[in-house]
Amino acid sequence: MQYNVTVIGSGPGGYVAAIRAAQLGFKTAIIEKYNTLGGTCLNVGCIPSKALLDSSEHFANAKDHFAEHGIDIPAPKVNFGQMIKRKGDVVKANVDGIAYLMKKNKIDVHTGTGSFVDKNTIKITTADGKESTITTEKVIIATGSKPTPLPFAPFDKKRIISSTEALELKEIPKHLIVIGGGVIGMELGSVYARIGSKVTVVEFLDSLIPTMDSTMGKELARVAKKMGIETYLGHKVTAVESKGEEVLVKAEPKNGGNAIELKGDYCLVSIGRRPYTDGLGLDKVGIQTEKGQIPVDNHLRTSVDNIYAIGDVVRGAMLAHKAEEEGVFVAEQLAGQKPHVNYNLIPGVVYTWPEVASVGQTEDQLKQQGRAYKVGSFPYKALGRARASMDTDGLVKILADKATDEILGVHIIGARAADMIAAGVTAMEFRASAEDVARMSHAHPTYMEAVKEACLAATENRAIHM
Ligand code: FAD
Ligand code: NAI
Repeated sequence: MQYNVTVIGSGPGGYVAAIRAAQLGFKTAIIEKYNTLGGTCLNVGCIPSKALLDSSEHFANAKDHFAEHGIDIPAPKVNFGQMIKRKGDVVKANVDGIAYLMKKNKIDVHTGTGSFVDKNTIKITTADGKESTITTEKVIIATGSKPTPLPFAPFDKKRIISSTEALELKEIPKHLIVIGGGVIGMELGSVYARIGSKVTVVEFLDSLIPTMDSTMGKELARVAKKMGIETYLGHKVTAVESKGEEVLVKAEPKNGGNAIELKGDYCLVSIGRRPYTDGLGLDKVGIQTEKGQIPVDNHLRTSVDNIYAIGDVVRGAMLAHKAEEEGVFVAEQLAGQKPHVNYNLIPGVVYTWPEVASVGQTEDQLKQQGRAYKVGSFPYKALGRARASMDTDGLVKILADKATDEILGVHIIGARAADMIAAGVTAMEFRASAEDVARMSHAHPTYMEAVKEACLAATENRAIHM
């Protein structure tokens, strides 16, 4: 078979690139080594984790909040098997949806591992060892990432587990020890804390979700405490041992102090993900990885002129929507268009409850840049809408340029922050000032009023409801 464009990997980067390429008239193929399409995100990432987050959140509401709303029900119980089954159904509906989209866009799907023979020839090897080759003018590598293990404690996938296993457990852990208080640790830690596990998070740095604005980490630590999640910040894990049904974790404060020993039945290692290029045969085309990533230029072109790379396998945030933007970007470039990705405005979201969502610069980044800025904050507890729903934890923090008032960062921890951050992206894409947003009418009562109020606070410290 001969193609204009071949995409290797069917995650959000790959399948979106393939659809856009097909829309633009290219004869397109996609190669995926697993039997289902959608990559990490749909199979073992974004979608299943959100399915379990939603189920566990319903349970927590029924258990802890219904009575106060005047809804009396018998004490709810978790049917964990059903929770996992529903998650599986949600994943299936989504991955089937991608198969439908491939068919609709007349994209040829090849199941098997894709590896370079040369820069225009790709070999596809199926799980049972059958080989075939296709030729192609352009290639888009979208092979994604895999969980990073601790160097001294590889995943045994039974007791020392990654997110993949944590989404598919057969029982609710009694004590889940989470190493890494980043996005996965806090999302999956929340799931299990809500449904009855004792959860302990050991984080190397001095803050949870340390890549986000430090106010978010502090507020999330407060919320985690309320949920009963125990956290050890600034702790370096020195040993993880699994013995039968037990896992022993040792850690010591990185700045000195007493070591700790934790005993649990599962240990989730969520210390980041690494780009995945195994079996791709990059050596056949002379592409060398750097720190595991495929180096690309500003056009996402690799060192070989007809080969591009996108998503988790290249530099930048490891996020589904970043991968998608890059997929569209490459396909449109191949069609001679001049697309653009604004990397400063890729939002980041943590789907805890309350959710955390950010876009633009953090306060620390502005300090490092030596940029003069203003801060406006507004707490959820001062919002009528938040009181009505009893979601009063959280705040909105707006960072704006001191001289021009242009919004430089929007950071939200609070109910529905994940959806609200889109307003921050829009405002910043149009280079709005804090006062521009402060002067727009926001429906009452909504959580978005906190954004308006924080913008008022940033403008001239003139929030109305504080
Ligand atoms: P991937 O989705 O990793 O897809 C790569 C695909 O390539 C895989 O299917 C793989 O099998 C295939 N492949 C690899 N090598 C070959 C080969 N040689 N031949 C054929 N096929 C190959 N991001 C968000 O934005 N929001 C979230 O809520 C979110 N939640 C997450 C939750 C978890 C638990 C995890 C683990 C990740 C989450 N992410 C989230 C991150 C998101 O999943 C990734 O950023 C995204 O999937 C990256 O897309 P990609 O297309 O680059 O690669
Ligand atoms: P992460 O980078 O978010 O967090 C890893 C955490 O582990 C960091 O806080 C880091 O300081 C800490 N850490 C690193 N080494 C450690 C050690 N030895 N001991 C203790 N702590 C250590 O990575 P995570 O959570 O594994 O997720 C991987 C990627 O997947 C994320 O970067 C994100 O891009 C993506 N993801 C996105 C989600 C979303 O958008 N909602 C949800 C889940 C994952």
